[in-house]
Amino acid sequence: MGRVGLGVAVGCAVVTCAIAAALVGRRARSWLRWGRAVAVVEGFEEGCATPVGRLRQVVDAMAVEMYAGLASDGGSKLKMLLTFVDTLPDGCRDLENDPAVEISPLLGKTFQMLFSNLNSVLDEDGIYYALDLGATVCRVLRIQLGGRGSKIINHKVEQHQIPQELASSTSEEFFDFISLTLQEFVEREENGINQVPDERKELGFTFSFPVRHLSISSGVLIKWTKGFAVEDVVGKDVSQCLEEAMSRNGLNMRVGALVNDTVGTLALGHYYDKDTVAAVIIGTGTNACYVERSDALIKSQGLLTNSGGMVVNMEWGNFWSAHLPKTSYDIALDDESSNRNEQGFEKMISGMYLGEIARRVLHRIAEESDIFGESAYYLSVPFILRTPLMAAMHEDDSPDLREVRRIFEEQFQIPGISLKARMLVVRVCDVVTRRAARLTSAGIIGMLKKIGRDGISGVAGGRAKGKPKRSVVAIERGLYTNYSIFREYMNETITDILGEELAQHVVLRVVEDGSGIGAALLAAATYSSNR
Ligand code: BGC
Repeated sequence: MGRVGLGVAVGCAVVTCAIAAALVGRRARSWLRWGRAVAVVEGFEEGCATPVGRLRQVVDAMAVEMYAGLASDGGSKLKMLLTFVDTLPDGCRDLENDPAVEISPLLGKTFQMLFSNLNSVLDEDGIYYALDLGATVCRVLRIQLGGRGSKIINHKVEQHQIPQELASSTSEEFFDFISLTLQEFVEREENGINQVPDERKELGFTFSFPVRHLSISSGVLIKWTKGFAVEDVVGKDVSQCLEEAMSRNGLNMRVGALVNDTVGTLALGHYYDKDTVAAVIIGTGTNACYVERSDALIKSQGLLTNSGGMVVNMEWGNFWSAHLPKTSYDIALDDESSNRNEQGFEKMISGMYLGEIARRVLHRIAEESDIFGESAYYLSVPFILRTPLMAAMHEDDSPDLREVRRIFEEQFQIPGISLKARMLVVRVCDVVTRRAARLTSAGIIGMLKKIGRDGISGVAGGRAKGKPKRSVVAIERGLYTNYSIFREYMNETITDILGEELAQHVVLRVVEDGSGIGAALLAAATYSSNR
């Protein structure tokens, strides 16, 4: 080899080494960045851990807070609101064969007559309407009751999107919109049907925000939740606001029952199955209600109910305990929310927030690494990842996770992320959902524990004697009904906490359209008992 040849060979070797070094360097940097992405997820996972021991502490904290909230107003973050609903419908009754009408052994023998008068008040045939208002949609319903014991003969539901700007409009605009929606529905339904022209109709009004009740049919809004901020409503009687709007719009209707969505769900759940002792909503927001003995309603100062019990709206979205696994993402979400330091439990478990928590973690990953490419701007936009999209990514069972790829392309304008990165995204969704579902189940068992229905503690807090009773918890809304992994985690957690044998006695039962139909049933019952 001549000199020239040697020079060329040396030159080539140098270039090759430089390229190799660059490649190795790039690979090393990429590994480093991948490592940082994984570290973000691992840190998040650790912060969200819900081992059974911790869940049991949440169970106990929930029960303790319930006592505190029942003892005095402001005694706990749990408002434990009285609903004035002391009777629940029971559709399983067969009056002819069961003249004793001893129907609701809800809380054991001592309370066997708890709702013994409830069927005597629900004997109202006819048409009842309901308006169900709680989040992004408003439902209008019509139910027809008939026959002995007022069976539901049929019902019709329509769903209307609430324009986003309405959530921060004025009281008049807000109530006008919903009363017009109702009016149009009533007109469509009654078109051609022989109705007594000026007859006033009874309405079940499901208003799913914290309300301090003045009676079964009236109550004052304590605060808005779920991003609503309609001016001038806090502190006002919402039934009156609606009735004024209905009369402005020429609709001859009266609010017969004002109920929270949990209470409507409990009413319909109990109509189907008399072992139903509580109801839980896990949708945009979250909440629970249950049947409490009147002597436990300490703050009501001796208020007597016909049945010896009353449904209590816990407003558990505002529950807080130091045992809840809170991460830096939860803290940041809360700091930037319009209701800081409020609805802490809701911000960890409900549909309004789950996608947003996942989005925050994904954004952090994008900041720490390049696994989502150079431009991940859209991941920095608050609430761009809605929970249904997060659930769709989580439940993507295609081998190449194509739903995750599609959502990244369409929603975040991030094309072609690697399969490895897509798998990490699914892991983030899993951590968010698993924590939420496990905490929800812990909340449910806490509530059952308070009323001696967890199979472990008796009514007075001691050990239960005899066989545990079957306790049905009516559940409504999308997180449980449409998100199968969420549902599976919830069911699995009940067993983790209670053990297989006791868990069999706790039944989570989906009650469709319960919040609306239940409200109409309660309006019918109230109308009947007031006549
Ligand atoms: C409200 C509750 C409601 C729940 C579910 C919460 O934000 O405060 O009243 O029951 O959402 O809709």
